Amino acid sequence: MVGKSFAWAMLPALAAAATLQSRHTNSTFDYDALSLRTVGSRNTLDWRIWLEQNGHPISFWHDVPLYPDECNKQIVNFVVEIPRWQDGKIEIRRQEPLNPIFHDDRNGQPRYVESVFPHKSYPFLYGSIPQTWESPNLDHDFTGEPGDNDPMDLFDIGQDLGYTGQVKQVKILGAIAPNDGGETDWKVLGIDVNDPIASLVDNFSDVEKYRPGLIQSYFDWFTYYKVARGDDVIPIVGNSYRNSTFATAVVEQSHGYWLDLVKGNVDSNEINYNQTSRPDIKHSFVSKRKATYQFDLPAASDEEPAAPRPERFDQWFYLDKEFRLIEENVVGE
Ligand SMILES: *[C@@H]1O[C@H](CO)[C@@H](O)[C@H](O)[C@H]1NC(C)=O
Ligand SMILES: *[C@@H]1O[C@H](CO)[C@@H](O)[C@H](O)[C@H]1NC(C)=O
Ligand SMILES: *[C@@H]1O[C@H](CO)[C@@H](O)[C@H](O)[C@H]1NC(C)=O
Ligand SMILES: *[C@@H]1O[C@H](CO)[C@@H](O)[C@H](O)[C@H]1NC(C)=O
Repeated sequence: MVGKSFAWAMLPALAAAATLQSRHTNSTFDYDALSLRTVGSRNTLDWRIWLEQNGHPISFWHDVPLYPDECNKQIVNFVVEIPRWQDGKIEIRRQEPLNPIFHDDRNGQPRYVESVFPHKSYPFLYGSIPQTWESPNLDHDFTGEPGDNDPMDLFDIGQDLGYTGQVKQVKILGAIAPNDGGETDWKVLGIDVNDPIASLVDNFSDVEKYRPGLIQSYFDWFTYYKVARGDDVIPIVGNSYRNSTFATAVVEQSHGYWLDLVKGNVDSNEINYNQTSRPDIKHSFVSKRKATYQFDLPAASDEEPAAPRPERFDQWFYLDKEFRLIEENVVGE
């Protein structure tokens, strides 16, 4: 009796230990050598974060490998752009050399999302999957639409808060495909491999047992999060989650599109795909030791105090059952 319950109690711990152990196996990518080079003020359009390895700049998008271990394609690396409960629309900048993170703009101003009650800002960690590309050069099988020209997006439902520029390993549990303005824009559902329930869930339907209601709640969030700024509800293709098998295959496919991109085989659509990790792909390779000078990047971090955030984003926005904005609760616009 005692032995049995002991074994049960140990299960998550054993799984976590196995995860930690596998972290560095069969991968030449050195996570411990990563750091961030940050310049400018948060909440301004000039703010930038570059990823560094051993102090040299590398690309979040092109130089972090997709898989920590090629033998397990359900676990991918994940670049945190927006930590949980933050509202700045922070993302990887596709046009700049080595693709730093920046604050996206809307109408020339830093962009934020409204807090739709009861969710605060982005209710999960939001970011992208390195070495993937939602190619705009073709209509995708499942959605019938071209891609949005960015890396694939992922939302991590783990309990860790995360920080901008963090590189995490997540387990893929499923995906949804919002059709935002006629573009394929997959949102892959993942969970941090170090989360307490990560070893207990293998696809989206398993999450219901441990976090009841969460899967539907986040599905709804993706449909209505732009309503508060005056947009329509965003339809999800197929109106449900795809399972983890399907999602893993879509990620693998999009890795193929990315490889064509960095090899220079396809129209790059203004993406800067200089990379520092694949000397065999001569078309896009630059030495990371020379990159700071070659691209005229700031040589070191120089972060300034954050600029204030507009008051509009300090309030709640309320929706009715049909996800329409309840106008009378909105002040300030
Ligand atoms: C290591 O990764 C390669 C692919 O890059 C794979 O073929 C090989 O089986 C892996 N080996 C181990 C021990 O996981
Ligand atoms: C996962 O989804 C695919 C396609 O939607 C389906 O063919 C497959 O049977 C599903 N797998 C499971 C375990 O439900
Ligand atoms: C999710 O995975 C579980 C077991 O891992 C399986 O029983 C179930 O059919 C899967 N569901 C889907 C929708 O893939
Ligand atoms: C590399 O960066 C330079 C400077 O921004 C740019 O002119 C060039 O097109 C880039 N090359 C690739 C392959 O993206």
